[in-house]
Amino acid sequence: MATTADALAHLRARAPQARPQVAVLLGSGWGGLTAHLLDALRLPYAELPGFPQASVAGHAGELWLGRIGAIEVAVLSGRQHGYETGAVDGMAVPLRTLHALGCKVLVQTNAAGSLNADMGPGSLMLVADHINMVQRSPLVGATGADRFVGMADAYDRSLRLAARQVATRLGVKLFEGVYLWCLGPQFETPAEIRAFRALGADAVGMSTVPETILARHSGMRVLALSLITNLAAGMSGEQLSHARTLAQAQLASDKASRLLAAIVSSLSLAGDGNTAP
Ligand code: HPA
Repeated sequence: MATTADALAHLRARAPQARPQVAVLLGSGWGGLTAHLLDALRLPYAELPGFPQASVAGHAGELWLGRIGAIEVAVLSGRQHGYETGAVDGMAVPLRTLHALGCKVLVQTNAAGSLNADMGPGSLMLVADHINMVQRSPLVGATGADRFVGMADAYDRSLRLAARQVATRLGVKLFEGVYLWCLGPQFETPAEIRAFRALGADAVGMSTVPETILARHSGMRVLALSLITNLAAGMSGEQLSHARTLAQAQLASDKASRLLAAIVSSLSLAGDGNTAP
């Protein structure tokens, strides 16, 4: 099986100059970010050892290397979801490779359903914390004491502050809340959504949590943003579907990728925050 070392060797050969500081993982609706990339080099996951072969419509499966403003970035366009194979560590090699290449921060994005009637389709939400409802971990099988990762500060406080400041400067409303991970691929029932609300969830989706765990295990600081594509099951008359999720994500895509590009280019990586290494 291909390892992080294989992927790293391949990337160093293909892009010897690349020194990305920030990894960005794009979910549904966030693909417009690649239009903001300068000096972009695009590598299909298919040619990168250990990278997943994306199978979901709307998830391209490409690694982009380039700059956003002065920040050198590695953009993962497409992720493998737990519901595709049952494995929840599909993004382990990509994330560990980007960390080994120099990324100290992971900015991840997703599409999500809202549990808050005031946070309707087209809204953007900063993830303040998560609930791992699936209770699966991409670290199962890892050895060493560092597998016992503290998750109290999973979503970095100073990165969230920076994101809020950029949103205010751009005049973009940014909600903040708790993201709850469901395995999918089926959507939730109305009873599940009522239960999740009682648990403290503001948004629900089928991704992000495993990648946050992987990034924290590597020592990367994490920022995560959700694009709300629908009110969650039972909250409106509409029937949920993947096609609807993608269509709604497309509508808010410009606003989302503009905000994301501005956040990434504003990141001040000097001193590099609150967590080792
Ligand atoms: N549930 C789960 N995942 C989602 C949803 C939802 O309502 N919308 C977009 N992704």
